[in-house]
Amino acid sequence: MKRIIIEGQHPLSGTIEIGGAKNSVVALMPACLLADGVVKLTNVPNISDKDALTQIMYLLGAKVTNKGNELEVDSSNVKNCEIPDELSRKLRASYYFMGILLGKYKHAEVYLPGGCNIGTRPINLHLKGFESLGATVVREGDKYILDAKELKGAPINLEFASVGATINIMFAAIYAEGTTTISNAARETEIVNIADFLNRMGAKITGAGTKTIIIEGVKKLHPADIEVIPDRIEAGTYIIIGSLIGDNLTVKGIVPEHIKALLDKLTEMNIKYELKGNEITVSKSEHITPVNVKTLVYPGFPTDLGQPIQVLLTQADGISYFDETIWEKRLQHVPQLLKMGANIKCMDSHAEIMGPTKLKGAKLTATDLRGGAALVLASLIAEGTTIIDDADHILRGYERIIQKLSKVGAKIRIEEI
Ligand code: EPU
Repeated sequence: MKRIIIEGQHPLSGTIEIGGAKNSVVALMPACLLADGVVKLTNVPNISDKDALTQIMYLLGAKVTNKGNELEVDSSNVKNCEIPDELSRKLRASYYFMGILLGKYKHAEVYLPGGCNIGTRPINLHLKGFESLGATVVREGDKYILDAKELKGAPINLEFASVGATINIMFAAIYAEGTTTISNAARETEIVNIADFLNRMGAKITGAGTKTIIIEGVKKLHPADIEVIPDRIEAGTYIIIGSLIGDNLTVKGIVPEHIKALLDKLTEMNIKYELKGNEITVSKSEHITPVNVKTLVYPGFPTDLGQPIQVLLTQADGISYFDETIWEKRLQHVPQLLKMGANIKCMDSHAEIMGPTKLKGAKLTATDLRGGAALVLASLIAEGTTIIDDADHILRGYERIIQKLSKVGAKIRIEEI
């Protein structure tokens, strides 16, 4: 188990560079298996989810070579096999092997995925999509067995614009005969990155980034390269840190359109920032206006920044109202913030956050990835020292977070206990 220790109240200045998007790379890596040959991904973040996926890809026979932020995947000798329970449950994105293996081999055996405990996280929309393409789905205990004689393109209307279901159905539909139309598709930026990669490999996908995605089935894909887009959630997290304790903290390598919902919210909160190309510079604001935040699908305010922004709301001059609409259990970190002196009342997925409050160092436990990040943010502004146990959650999605924050002046270290 990893423990992060932070001495708070040191202003942060200098530049933090953003890495590649976690939620893109966790789908791009499995997608490499669709082409028989050598594929290169660049701007790959060094996060533990990548290591978990590498283990699954090894098991399937892929050769994965990682040099710095480049990842080469040779899929020439890939063979279909069951993805066992212990590997599947290491991360959420193991469910992408369902779409990939079903698409390529018409058969997949994958155990229930893992990931943060932020709600029930069903995969019914993925499975319904596979069935619409002609697959049968059998569940044996925690294992899903997907099988099809052939896959046929079909119209698929998602009841909810699920990110995972949109990507997984795209994967399965690539080799299906005919046309698949996904309506009410998720529009997250990562989906555009993934569709771009698949098209470079020879897929015929149009409409990614809109509510309707059309996939014309093809017979074969060929190797291609892709750069992982910058991580908008990592960027947003550091921008919020700058708003809390920055002294001209620059966050570099961002795509401003991808974080528009956050930037609009910061403007509403009276936080001043300077945007220049792919860089943003932000400093601690003295008077923060309380606001309402409601998480929504893209391009709305991202659920993955909901927990971090709550820390900023503890410093606003008055009451802010927060509503989480995507995940039903994404306020589990709040009791930890209360230990630090925050004044937050929760009811189901709604929180009322009273500010401004002075936060004090405490002994905490990270409950999940973004909740853990929120605790790091709170610790950076708290008086005294904070200890965060179960920090492994945080390393699943924030590459080199200790080094990045230390470089700009944070007193932060990590220990194995
Ligand atoms: N849902 C269903 N049925 C399904 C799929 C989803 O009911 O078959 C529901 C979920 O229960 C949830 C909502 O739809 O209430 C959204 O789920 P979605 O499928 O969009 O989420 P996901 O694909 O499982 C990805 C990210 C999450 C991020 C969400 C929303 C990955 C690996 N995970 O999850 O990232 O919160 O999209 O943007 O891409 C994180 O990075 O911390 C994280 C949790």
